[in-house]
Amino acid sequence: MTDAVSDNTESSEYTENAEIPARHRQLEQIEIDLLCEAIYRYYGFDFRQYARASLKRRIMNLLSLEGLGSISALQDRVLHDRQMMERFLLNLSINVTAMFRDPAMYVALRNKVVPLLQTYPSIRVWHAGCSSGEEAYSMSILLEEEGMSSHSKIYATDFNEAIIKHAQAGVMPLNEMQAYTANYQKAGGKRSFSEYYSARYDRAILVPRLRNPIVFSRHNLATDGSFNEFNIIFCRNVMIYFDDNLRNRVLELLHNSLCRFGILVLGTKESLQFTPFEQYYKELDGPGRIYQRIR
Ligand SMILES: C[S@@+](CC[C@H](N)C(=O)[O-])C[C@H]1O[C@@H](n2cnc3c(N)ncnc32)[C@H](O)[C@@H]1O
Repeated sequence: MTDAVSDNTESSEYTENAEIPARHRQLEQIEIDLLCEAIYRYYGFDFRQYARASLKRRIMNLLSLEGLGSISALQDRVLHDRQMMERFLLNLSINVTAMFRDPAMYVALRNKVVPLLQTYPSIRVWHAGCSSGEEAYSMSILLEEEGMSSHSKIYATDFNEAIIKHAQAGVMPLNEMQAYTANYQKAGGKRSFSEYYSARYDRAILVPRLRNPIVFSRHNLATDGSFNEFNIIFCRNVMIYFDDNLRNRVLELLHNSLCRFGILVLGTKESLQFTPFEQYYKELDGPGRIYQRIR
């Protein structure tokens, strides 16, 4: 799913006003704390450790979209109207993604990681924070082209149920295909990208076999635990929304879910540097943010 707002470009609809008195800002902080606590206790979604500035901007945008006068009014609506909660989730969790996003990372994956994966009799892959599935389908294509599909299982998870349903359908806007074809070619694709979908009206329907190795399910990185041991984990462009505590919790969860010498792939603007986990990994590809667990 793409979005006019890139996931690292915050919307400018709301900006912090230096004129706002300190007492008013304190009140907003309290209301945001209460909103996050209420959502956590009632729905189980934990935004309490999301990076504050970005969280506040998104909440303020939602207030203006919904025509609500205060964060407390939003709390009331969210608690009593599940559809409002869905809209809250969609607004807060930026779902920007693409097939073969950051093509150079896929080239590095083919050259530096595939030879390692080929030594395993079976391969388990986890896409944590998979959004509408483009990253998992790209991996499915890569594994097929490298002859590893039949003995691979891809677990693709996100905490947003609506986006997981979307991902399961394997349907994408047709007008994205030109950009995805260019990404695929730059990513070292071995065939013609058009072999992987059929066009129907304004939609591209992915060939069903790409879904065969993939299990889509809900998983919340902020509250859920490890559920398997993986040879490779992708957690790209998810932790940028978390504060240091939550990021460390997630890194620990990913670490505990990786087999020895397993591979961890982060987003190009994320890094293990200066985290407590840096010492447990060696960098396989710097720009691609591809790491190998060594301890
Ligand atoms: C920007 S998208 C990244 C998609 C894909 N990994 C990529 O890089 O193209 C971030 C995704 O993380 C998901 N997300 C945010 N917080 C999460 C959490 N606590 N647990 C699981 N997924 C989460 C969002 O729903 C969203 O789909």
